[in-house]
Amino acid sequence: MLGIRSKTQVQGPALEAARRLLTLGCFCIGTNQVDLKSANAHGVPVFNAPFSNTRSVAEMILAEIVVLARKIGDCSRDLHQGIWTKAAVGCYEVRGKTLGVIGYGHIGRQIGVMAEMIGMQVVFYDIAPRLPMGNNRAMKSMAELLAASDFVTLHVPETRETANMIDAPELAQMKKGSYLLNASRGSVVVIPALAAAVKSGHLAGAAIDVYPEEPAANGPGFESELRGLPNVVLTPHVGGSTAEAQEAIGREVATALIRFVNQGATTGAVNFPQVELPALEGRETHRILNVHRNVPGVLRDITRIVSDLNANIEAQSLSTDPDIGYLVMDLGRDVADEVQKAIAALPTNIRTRILF
Ligand code: NAI
Repeated sequence: MLGIRSKTQVQGPALEAARRLLTLGCFCIGTNQVDLKSANAHGVPVFNAPFSNTRSVAEMILAEIVVLARKIGDCSRDLHQGIWTKAAVGCYEVRGKTLGVIGYGHIGRQIGVMAEMIGMQVVFYDIAPRLPMGNNRAMKSMAELLAASDFVTLHVPETRETANMIDAPELAQMKKGSYLLNASRGSVVVIPALAAAVKSGHLAGAAIDVYPEEPAANGPGFESELRGLPNVVLTPHVGGSTAEAQEAIGREVATALIRFVNQGATTGAVNFPQVELPALEGRETHRILNVHRNVPGVLRDITRIVSDLNANIEAQSLSTDPDIGYLVMDLGRDVADEVQKAIAALPTNIRTRILF
């Protein structure tokens, strides 16, 4: 097994050479650092921890909603510079205000639930039908959500559709005096348009955690049109950066690796057909795990092997993607060894192992 973090590259030649590698765990969220296609072709499932920091992001957004409504960022900056500015103008409670959540997935839903607890009304927009949590309400379109919300928070993935999704026309559809929060991906908001909307006073503030271009290392030199603007809270992509999230990443990825090695389960793998069979019960059963090239005739060959050896299949599950198939089969222990050897000898075989 190999465990890596986000900066370690594992590309085709490494996977080619790693003949005994069973599985690869990315102890982080993204998996761009791995050649997933090559890992797939070599029968190596890759696991990550996509939802381990959901709560951390949701809590930060919730805090920032209050921070924006009270201009706490500016108050703190002023006082650090020795300037006392006590004022109530442009400061509000968030109770009774409307929060619009765009992208009602894991993070969006968490925020929807928590925002209601502090008295906000929550509307959401998602391209997929989503069950509303609590009293959250679905909006028919993004335009409807933008027009209805005092705060708009973005929780969409980075896709072709979400690139530049919030540009000048969308900002213009937002209420005068409303706020924008983005802790999703830097490609979603057009920063110059946002800066213009804040400067003109159309938006009363913004909280931004992600940027179109982010520095590769800590240190000075961060540039953005948003720097120095009033009531704009800037954070360096720390939405998911908490001790709890780090611990959850460790636990989730390690659990996935162990479940694959001990049971053959691939649920949650980012590059692999998903198969889940319950853990082996009793010593009389052995489990064969076979990864094969997804070409016609493989199952016929495997079925013939099983029937020629008079083996009784106790449980079986097959899942495929365009390139490979993953077959998990529980058999009586008396024939399992022979079945495994025969399957491993097929020309379509990529990897076959046995559990007992
Ligand atoms: P998720 O996959 O659970 O939810 C995303 C939702 O967005 C889905 O319901 C999907 O249907 C919806 N969606 C997709 N395209 C859409 C569109 N064009 N319009 C409206 N809705 C759309 O993802 P999750 O875990 O909630 O994460 C959301 C975002 O947060 C991701 O971009 C992720 O990269 C980012 N993130 C940022 C972190 C940070 O440190 N700032 C940490 C963790 C995640």
